[in-house]
Parts: sequence; structure tokens; C-alpha cells
Amino acid sequence: MQNPARPGLRPCRGGFLPEDPVPALASPGRVPKTCLVHAIRPVGRIQAGDGRMSAHASGRTGWTRLNVLLHWAVVLLILAQWIEAEWMETLWDSVTEGEQIGTTGLVLGYTHIVCGTFILAAALVRLLDRFVNGRPPYPASNPSWTMWLSKITHFGLYGIIIVMPALGLAAWWTGNDEFAHWHTRLWDPLLILAGLHILGALAEHFYFRTDSLAKMVPGLSEPRGGGRNDLA
Ligand code: HEM
Ligand code: HEM
Repeated sequence: MQNPARPGLRPCRGGFLPEDPVPALASPGRVPKTCLVHAIRPVGRIQAGDGRMSAHASGRTGWTRLNVLLHWAVVLLILAQWIEAEWMETLWDSVTEGEQIGTTGLVLGYTHIVCGTFILAAALVRLLDRFVNGRPPYPASNPSWTMWLSKITHFGLYGIIIVMPALGLAAWWTGNDEFAHWHTRLWDPLLILAGLHILGALAEHFYFRTDSLAKMVPGLSEPRGGGRNDLA
């Protein structure tokens, strides 16, 4: 679609892209140079086959291995946090109220602290990796609301997996019940956002039939056509 205010340019997510890629650049894997807003970094690669540009600043086509590894490590650790949270409560009560605690409570309570701290570190490293190396483009064939919904969900997930362990650590260091209270209050929002996120990932794969899930699950093949976007 032409942009009347800027002839020859069409809107991209956050700026404008040339209406038609320069023919010499329109081969798979080449990076078009000019997006007025993303001028500092190259915009996405022209994708093989349909010649369409993905409007993304990094030019990556997949996640870094580190990002994938940390994503799944965090998923497993959140599962672990859920399992041993009860012992953390026992440890917390023993520290703040002097209640008796056995070896299991002690070991699993400290496991909660170690795993939680790892989740915090992994989230920060993933954000750094994303900032330095970028992320793959959002599927250009999807309606734009799916991109915004996933952006909001990802923002919320990053927020919680950073703020929640930070509050836990603050409670631990200061002995302040208020921090512990807010720490535990974030558990339900985390579950809701994670549920929405998982539904989104499955919808990408089975309904929209994009390669989003395949990029995050090593060894998973991308779906082959027949999805909602093929009806358009
Ligand atoms: C993302 C990482 C973490 C998750 C998902 C998580 C999750 C939980 C959950 C589900 C509970 C129990 C809530 C309940 O049943 O009432 C809990 C309790 C607790 N967690 Fe974490 N936790 C994380 C990181 C940490 C860290 C790093 C610490 C640092 C010491 C910590 C300290 C505590 C404390 C002190 C409690 C007891 C609060 C109370 O009984 O009032 N947590 N956590
Ligand atoms: C509690 C568990 C989970 C958390 C906290 C979590 C967190 C995240 C975050 C923060 C991102 C955004 C990465 C970024 O934009 O930098 C992400 C991406 C992704 N996650 Fe999860 N995730 C969880 C579970 C899962 C599960 C179970 C699946 C698979 C069913 C999954 C599939 C994906 C996919 C496919 C992406 C890439 C999305 C895209 O390309 O836009 N996640 N995850």
C-alpha cells in the first residue's frame, strides 16, 4: 500500500520501507538497506519464495542458541519453583518466626532460592542477547493484533520473571514480609500470562501455521501450508 504522505514508501512496523525492494537486492537472504526509522541497523531479510520483507530491525531469522537454551531452562525452573514453593514457605517461617525445619525443608527451601536467582539471571541474559543479537521477525502473514498481543505477553512475562525473584531476594535479605507477600502475589499473573503465551505458541503452529514454534523448539519441523493465513 502506497503511503500518500511519503510517496514510494509503505509503512513498516515503526517506520517506512521502500515500496518495492531494489531488484538487485531482491534475492533471498539479502538485506535491504533503507527503512527510515530503522536506518541505524539493517531491516529484515527478504524472505525466500514470496520476496516479502519482514519489518524487523535485527535481520535475524532465528533465535540464538543461548536464547533457546535459556528459554527452556527457565520453563523447567519455573516448574521446579512451583513444586518446591511449599518448602520455601517452611524455610521462610523458620527464619521469620523461628519454626522448626527439617533437612528436606532446608535443602528444598534453598533450592527455591538458587533456582529463582537463576531465573532472574537467565531473564537478564536473554534480554541482553535480544538487545545485542535481535530476535526473529514476527510472521508478516499474521494479522497485526497477534504481534501486539505477543509483544504485550512477552513484556509481562519478562517483567514477572525479573520482578518476582527480585522481590523474593529482597524479602530474604531484609526479612520483610511485605516483599514476600508481593512476591507470592505475582504467581497467579505469571500462570495466566504463561497460559496465554502457550496458547499463542500453539495457535501459531497449528492455526496460523507459522514457523514461530519451530524456531523455539529444536528439531520441530515448521508446518507446511494449509493454515489460516492461506485463506487470505
Ligand atoms: C521466578 C522465580 C520464582 C518463582 C516463580 C517463585 C515462586 C514462589 C511461589 C509459588 C511461592 C509460594 C507461594 C505460596 O504458596 O504462598 C514462593 C514463596 C517464596 N519465595 Fe519464591 N519464587 C521465585 C524466586 C524466589 C527467589 C529468588 C527467592 C529469594 C529468596 C524467593 C523467596 C521466596 C520466599 C521467601 C517465599 C515465602 C513467602 C511466604 O511464605 O510468604 N523466591 N515463591
Ligand atoms: C512459564 C513458562 C514460559 C515462559 C516464562 C516463557 C517466556 C517467554 C518469553 C519472555 C519469550 C519472548 C522472547 C522474546 O521476545 O525475547 C518467549 C518466546 C517464546 N516462547 Fe515461551 N515461555 C514459557 C513457556 C513456553 C512454552 C511451554 C512454549 C511452547 C509451547 C513456549 C514457546 C515460545 C515460543 C514459540 C516463543 C517465540 C515467540 C515468538 O517468536 O514471538 N514458551 N517465551
